[in-house]
Amino acid sequence: MATPFGVFRSPNISPDPEVGIGNWSMLDFINAMVLGLSPELEHYYPAFPYPHYQNINYDDLIDLKTYLDTLPPSPNQVADHELIFPYTFRRGVGLWKWRYLERNKSLRTSDPKTPVERGRYLVTGPGHCGACHTPRDVFGGEMVDRFLAGAESFEVGEGPEGESEGRIPNITPHSDGIGDWSETDIAYSLESGFDPDFDSFGGSMVEVQENTARLSAEDRAAIAAYLKSIPARRSD
Ligand code: HEC
Repeated sequence: MATPFGVFRSPNISPDPEVGIGNWSMLDFINAMVLGLSPELEHYYPAFPYPHYQNINYDDLIDLKTYLDTLPPSPNQVADHELIFPYTFRRGVGLWKWRYLERNKSLRTSDPKTPVERGRYLVTGPGHCGACHTPRDVFGGEMVDRFLAGAESFEVGEGPEGESEGRIPNITPHSDGIGDWSETDIAYSLESGFDPDFDSFGGSMVEVQENTARLSAEDRAAIAAYLKSIPARRSD
């Protein structure tokens, strides 16, 4: 992932005991997902979206680790990040967390029972939609008061399709966003990858949609209901 802070490489999370996370306990896994801390208690960079994953409930985190444990171990050794000074100092991330983690936590649901609250859970937790759709300030923290109002692409350079991603759309119910999409349109786009004008999703949304296509129809409808319920915000 090429960003203004340097290049981040996604580590091996297969159960390989040497290069993966095969030696991790359940607690190690939950600390990483919720607190952004490694088993050695070092800070992870928030390129790993733990500011969002902290909003996943413990039952789901336990299921995730249990599932990861069933995958074949991979010996793939991933190179280190190549970051630009001063981001090479992990300890600075502690300050960043103190400033930003609580903000993302404020978006979580306390009780994901109704469809709208289930949608809030999926969007602010596992779906981490704000990681791309919410604008960031100069420190790379998401501006929660501009939640999902569209952003400059955080990644620099070329997207998976060989073109620069540029701007990521506003997905609030504003006319700058997807205000004229019905709940059915939103749910259908997350299933099929087509917007109401039958243009297909591009850039990094392609991978996201490949995953939302695997959700249940109820979960896609819940995301749509939640996106219709949030405050309409104009794009900057
Ligand atoms: C990795 C970054 C990323 C994440 C995470 C992400 N998106 Fe997107 N999304 C994009 C990009 C880039 C586009 C623009 C695609 C295009 O122009 O074809 C987009 C487009 C969209 C659109 C179409 C908006 C329009 O006006 O055309 C919707 C709806 C949408 N995303 C919903 C979501 C939801 C819901 C989630 C969370 C489940 C999500 N996105 C997570 C990057 C992301």
